[in-house]
Amino acid sequence: MKIFILLTLISSNVLAGPCRNTNAKKCGYESCHPVKIDYLNVHFVPHSHDDVGWLKTVDQYYYGTNNSIQAASVQFILDSVVEALSKDSNRRFIYVETAFFWKWWEKQNENIKMQVRYLVSSGQLEFIGGAWSMNDEANANYISIIDQFTWGLRKLNDTFGACGRPHIGWQIDPFGHTKQMASLFTQLGFDGLFFGRLDVEEKSQRLKNKTAEMIWKSSPNLGQSADLFTHALYNRYSSPNGYCFDVLCESDPIIDDKESPEYNVKQKGETLIDYIHKQSLQYKTNNIILTMGDDFHYTAAGINFHSMDKIINYINSKQSSGSKINAIYSTPSCYLKAVNDRNETFTTKSDDFLPYKSDKHTYWTGYFTSRPTQKYFERKGNNILQVCKQLAVTSLEGHKYEPKINPLREAMGVMQHHDAITGTAKQHVANDYARILSEAITECEDVSSMLLQRYDSSSTKYETCNLLNISACTISEQSEQFILTLYNPLSRPITEFVRLPIMDNNKYIVLDPQGKNIITQIVPIPQSVLNIPGRESLATSELVFEANDLPPLGYKSYHINKDRNSNKKRRTHTTPTQPQIDSVDLGDTRFGLKINNIDSRQFTMHISGLEVPLQHEFFYYKSMNGDNKKDYKRASGAYIFRPNGTAVPICDHHNESKIFKGPVVQEIHIICSNWTSQVIRKYKGDDHLEFEWLVGPIPDEDNIGKEVISRFKIPSYKNDKTFYTDSNGREFIKRVLNYRSSFDLKENVENISGNYYPITSQIMLTDGKTQFAILNDRAQGGSSLDDGEIELMVHRRMFLDDAFGVGEALNETSYGTGLVVRGQHYLTFGTIDKQFSVQRLLAQRKLLRPQYFLSKKDSVVKQNELLKEITMQYSSMRNSLPKNVQLLTLEPWKENTILLRLEHIFEYNEDKNLSKPVTLNLEDLFTNFRITSLHETTLGANQWLSENSRLSWKTDDEDTLNSHNIENTDQVSVNPKQVALTPMQIRTFVAEIKTTQSVK
Ligand SMILES: *[C@@H]1O[C@H](CO)[C@@H](O)[C@H](O)[C@H]1NC(C)=O
Ligand SMILES: [Zn+2]
Repeated sequence: MKIFILLTLISSNVLAGPCRNTNAKKCGYESCHPVKIDYLNVHFVPHSHDDVGWLKTVDQYYYGTNNSIQAASVQFILDSVVEALSKDSNRRFIYVETAFFWKWWEKQNENIKMQVRYLVSSGQLEFIGGAWSMNDEANANYISIIDQFTWGLRKLNDTFGACGRPHIGWQIDPFGHTKQMASLFTQLGFDGLFFGRLDVEEKSQRLKNKTAEMIWKSSPNLGQSADLFTHALYNRYSSPNGYCFDVLCESDPIIDDKESPEYNVKQKGETLIDYIHKQSLQYKTNNIILTMGDDFHYTAAGINFHSMDKIINYINSKQSSGSKINAIYSTPSCYLKAVNDRNETFTTKSDDFLPYKSDKHTYWTGYFTSRPTQKYFERKGNNILQVCKQLAVTSLEGHKYEPKINPLREAMGVMQHHDAITGTAKQHVANDYARILSEAITECEDVSSMLLQRYDSSSTKYETCNLLNISACTISEQSEQFILTLYNPLSRPITEFVRLPIMDNNKYIVLDPQGKNIITQIVPIPQSVLNIPGRESLATSELVFEANDLPPLGYKSYHINKDRNSNKKRRTHTTPTQPQIDSVDLGDTRFGLKINNIDSRQFTMHISGLEVPLQHEFFYYKSMNGDNKKDYKRASGAYIFRPNGTAVPICDHHNESKIFKGPVVQEIHIICSNWTSQVIRKYKGDDHLEFEWLVGPIPDEDNIGKEVISRFKIPSYKNDKTFYTDSNGREFIKRVLNYRSSFDLKENVENISGNYYPITSQIMLTDGKTQFAILNDRAQGGSSLDDGEIELMVHRRMFLDDAFGVGEALNETSYGTGLVVRGQHYLTFGTIDKQFSVQRLLAQRKLLRPQYFLSKKDSVVKQNELLKEITMQYSSMRNSLPKNVQLLTLEPWKENTILLRLEHIFEYNEDKNLSKPVTLNLEDLFTNFRITSLHETTLGANQWLSENSRLSWKTDDEDTLNSHNIENTDQVSVNPKQVALTPMQIRTFVAEIKTTQSVK
């Protein structure tokens, strides 16, 4: 019975297609409605923009609850779209967010699934983008972007095969666009990118010059292979004014019944034709896109399609009387293919689309910093995910653990959404994101702990301490004896300076895996940290030691004992000392800092013989107040940064400061004001200075929003108004004050926020001989507004909304007061020949940090007994990879294969040695298994690389500088003994493995 119904359904579908061959189901470019060569082809693109959380939570949007906030129910959108498409094979629809699609798909019966499969295989329903969410581009780190595409695309490929494979980037709503994102799209094998938001001036100039379509040269290192066809949409992503037929809109439906007094198709059709003509003057070919949709549209898709059917018919009916307009249902890929077929020549673009300005006073640069704790939590989630995926693979039973890893894969996908990591969702939604992430982290950590246990014969319980960011950890505080296991997710050995919260000045004995006593130091926790609202820990000090040479993809365990014999006071290593006149105050003369004047925070850096002056200061910008009714009345808010005047210093004149010196670390604790303090520290032997900041609660008594920055300055440094920022943690982009290389920035009235850029991992100045860089621990907004200066916005609190929909002021509170945030900046300085390697390696070390696992030992155990029970040191790799390579991904894959991604972390010409291409032998790289075959895929691992071919485009530049082209191979199979990587290249492989050594 069931089967019979299905068959009827399918055949009626097939017959419904007027111009379709009954046997051939085609998807992709072949399924496009034909365009007419001598006509203006109008591509109607029905779509729904479904935010993975914003004003409502992910589940509220999916189920359609809380509709008083926003009428939106994704489950009914998908229900009704499937029904409307099944009624008429002419119709098309694109779907973007796998997070929602998946929630829906799992709940459908076979009948509906069958219908959907049919729609996908006939090209009526096309997946586009296809990642778990439509990710933000400014704050997201490349690893998390790649991961969320991999996960979304994997599900689509597994379910729908080739027809479910997206090949178009659809970033219609993110508030600015990065080169790295464009480059990732090319590596995903995509043919183009469409988006809605770009600087208003750039948009109007491009429309005027007919260059709203261009070839984006997204990576100088990857060359032509990273060229991406890019289309800036005409009407952002909405339908033309008056043609929004959705139930949420007020436009009249189209009525073509001539007998009715309500007949309107002629008038509506003619007005739309005027609009079409106007739009077509601004694009190069005889094709234009009409985006027919908006946020959460199509809950009653039949209504939308009904009117579109009629207006399309009306437009085409005029062809018999000589009209040269051809209207079709289409998708962005069908549009793109039609444009490509014209063989036009396009201009190129080599910078990015940041910052985004929607009006003269309205720069979307606040979201680079909004919700700093959420941005940090997201980073941490990535770190934990990589660790648990690696441990799952090296356990050789990877997919056994996938059910517990998938929630974090998905939570991280959700976090990349352009209202999640951006901090632009409502507070209750931000709380829900934290819930989703935190629950998923717990599951992944359980997997990691369980897998670490396999190396023990005892039943050691490995726990994590997730409050180390406020110097709290129950196990280290309350145990007489415990084991600290540090797992290093990098594919090279690394040194970690461990800080563990402890109760008082007890002495501890720390033994390394060989039983050797390690030098420790005890440093008091600053009072401002002890005062953090909600901190319940009794720890007042931190036990600090160097854990060196942590093995690649492996761990070392440290046996830590309270020394009950020691005299508490006398044995304390760290004592406050007075600044000494004749030497540096922090670090050593090879890399150290001398305090010249603590009140004005003037220092001299001593770096390999150089003496460089340095100032540091905290300031805040007053947030602009306004009612948002006019652009010049725009208020600063979750999206927008609009300062009222220049920065106001925060620090009191008489700063209280203390210096603590010991054998492991030297640090100055500075109280700047009653809500801002910092620690500047230098670990022995390390190559950078750490500036730890603690900001909040930001005062609210005056009701003026405050946006806090940390500003570093090297007076008289000559960087010529130029600075460099990273793109999603990878290639550097040159920034020049009040200048954009690909359009004419007429007048930058907002000359502070208009010079802000996202700093995903680092910002750098150079005077041609030296480099000065600040790296961070989470994405932030930043700039260099004056030569020698670097500023990063660390926290913001405001009391007005900026009127882009959130409807709430970004006034984060917790424990009844303004949110307190603690974070770190890392300062490096040195000569150009050495600095790139310092910066790249440091950035990587801060992105993928050793994960801490602690296990309490109840009964006192001797080290030699411990060694019998526990494998104190282990590496999953026989050798480490060279410094310029990172094993970017190691995760369980399908049918006993693993997914392996390698990345060259340097650009060309950064470092004499490390910027060179490398060739690796992966065959016997891992301890427990041998790689028997490697099959290369596109970046998303959803297509064999040899099967991908991208459309080619003609550009107006000859591209003579392109020396770094990557050869695309026809070979699927790659010899594991010889895997080559060029600078900035990422290669993705599905690997078959053979166990070489069993683990317990
Ligand atoms: C994609 O899915 C198809 C069909 O299930 C499968 O044959 C193919 O191997 C998959 N591609 C990759 C790269 O996994
Ligand atoms: Zn959106």
